[in-house]
Amino acid sequence: MVQLSNSVYLLGGLFGLFLLSPVLMAPTPASMCTPLKTLNDSLSHRRRYMKHNFPINYTIRVHREEVFKVSSINRMRLQEDGLDELILQRLWFQVNQGVLKKIIRVMPERHPSRPYTAELESRFRDAEGVFVQSHPAEVFQQELPESVQDTWDNLTEEPDRVPESSWRYVSPKSLLDNFCQTMHCLFSECFAGTEAPQDYCDVSYWRKGRKKDLHPES
Ligand SMILES: *[C@@H]1O[C@H](CO)[C@@H](O)[C@H](O)[C@H]1NC(C)=O
Ligand SMILES: *[C@@H]1O[C@H](CO)[C@@H](O)[C@H](O)[C@H]1NC(C)=O
Ligand SMILES: *[C@@H]1O[C@H](CO)[C@@H](O)[C@H](O)[C@H]1NC(C)=O
Repeated sequence: MVQLSNSVYLLGGLFGLFLLSPVLMAPTPASMCTPLKTLNDSLSHRRRYMKHNFPINYTIRVHREEVFKVSSINRMRLQEDGLDELILQRLWFQVNQGVLKKIIRVMPERHPSRPYTAELESRFRDAEGVFVQSHPAEVFQQELPESVQDTWDNLTEEPDRVPESSWRYVSPKSLLDNFCQTMHCLFSECFAGTEAPQDYCDVSYWRKGRKKDLHPES
């Protein structure tokens, strides 16, 4: 009985909060986790497909804003006080849609990494579909803070209007590393481990991560 009323109270409280600030709360809906974990599974093969099948030091030309790292997210959060997570998540989809398109564009039809990348893109689209469905449409019409809007405009700028100094040359593997790391940071609820909670937005987590891969848990 006590437990029941507690949870009713808790639900009521959550519901109240939700009504007050449906946009500000923006938790990752649980439905997002299945497609994101599937994406994570694909991304675990990125070294094989994005490094081994490409020439040494091969790079792709991308917008400066497409070099979207965990540190970029932290910087944006500092610049824009109380920046809505949902806005960063929207930006993540926008950035990585462009990144995947650029990677696919450099691969000839029969490139050995092409099926992998096509599958990755299709899984990304699945996640995007769930993302769009699980939020009210108004959320996507919400005005963006100025700095985010600037970034967004730069991402969608016509290539011939982008100044040479604004291009970056980045390896496909490195683009997918950023893709994977920022996904963990922005959708951390879906990647909570069974052990102590990890801070995926902490840049040093990813530096240590390399070594950990060599010593998988038994
Ligand atoms: C995500 O993929 C990594 C391998 O790259 C794996 O260690 C981790 O357990 C995966 N996370 C989830 C939640 O599936
Ligand atoms: C690749 O880049 C590294 C670091 O810039 C350089 O030392 C190396 O010689 C390059 N390798 C080739 C094959 O160009
Ligand atoms: C957008 O691009 C312009 C021109 O390259 C640059 O000056 C500006 O800093 C960029 N804005 C953002 C937010 O990256």
